[in-house]
Amino acid sequence: MSEMTDQLVSRLVLDAPHRTIVFEHFEIDFCCNGARSLRDACRARGIDLARVVEAIAAADEAHADIDELPSWLGLRGSALADHIERTHHAYLRAELPTMMELFEKVTVVHRLRHPELVDALRVFQALINDLVPHMESEEHVLFPMIRRLEETGSKGAGAPRIQCASLEHPLRSMEFEHDAVGGTLSELRELLERFEAPEDACPSYRLLLNGLIRLERDLHEHIHKENNLLFPQVRRLMGIPDPGGSSRSAGPMWIP
Ligand SMILES: [Fe+2]
Ligand SMILES: [Fe+2]
Repeated sequence: MSEMTDQLVSRLVLDAPHRTIVFEHFEIDFCCNGARSLRDACRARGIDLARVVEAIAAADEAHADIDELPSWLGLRGSALADHIERTHHAYLRAELPTMMELFEKVTVVHRLRHPELVDALRVFQALINDLVPHMESEEHVLFPMIRRLEETGSKGAGAPRIQCASLEHPLRSMEFEHDAVGGTLSELRELLERFEAPEDACPSYRLLLNGLIRLERDLHEHIHKENNLLFPQVRRLMGIPDPGGSSRSAGPMWIP
C-alpha cells in the first residue's frame, strides 16, 4: 500500500489510465492538482486513504487482462498536440453549442422549481467564454511552437532555436487557465448537486446532466494530457524546470 500512497496522483493515472474512474468517483483532482501524493490528495479531500487504495486495486484487477494501454500514452510532442486537437478540441467545438441550447431550454422550463439552474447557466456560459479562447491560444500559439521546436530539432544545430522564455510564457498561461476551468467545473458540479438528477427531472434535464458529466470527464482527461504529459515533455526538452515537480512528467523523454 505504501508504494502507491507516496506516488503522485498524476503518475498513478499515467501508469494506468483506467484509474481515472476511481479518482472521478472520489472527486480527487488528477489533472490540475495531480502533482501531489495520493496520501496528500486524500488528506486534502478528507477521504480515507485505505478506501481509495482499495478501489484502485480493484480497478487494476478488473483491468488486469487488458494489456493494451491507450495509444495516446505513447505519443510525444506534435503528435500528442495533434491528438488533443482532433479529439478533445473537436469534441468541445461540436458539443458546447448544442449543450448551451439544451441548458437554456431546461432552465426556462424548470427555473421556478430549480432556481439553481439560473446560476448554473451563467457559470456554464463563463466556462464556454474561457474555453473557446483557450483552445484558440493552444491551436494558434502554443501547439505551433511545439511543432516548430520539433522541426528545428530535426534540422540540426543550424536551425533557428526557440527560446526557453518564449515557450515558458504560453505554458504557464495555459496552466493558469486550466486551473480556472477546473474551478468553474467544480462550481458547476456544486450548484447542480454533483449532477444528480432531481426526482422531477424531465428527459431533457437528465440529458443535460449526463452531458455535463461527460463534459467534465472529457475536460479532466484533456487537461491531464496537457498538464501532465505534453507540457512536462516540452519543459524537459527545453531544460525548463517543471513547476509541478520533475516526477510529474511521463515516460521517456521526447527527442525530436
Ligand atoms: Fe487543449
Ligand atoms: Fe488546455
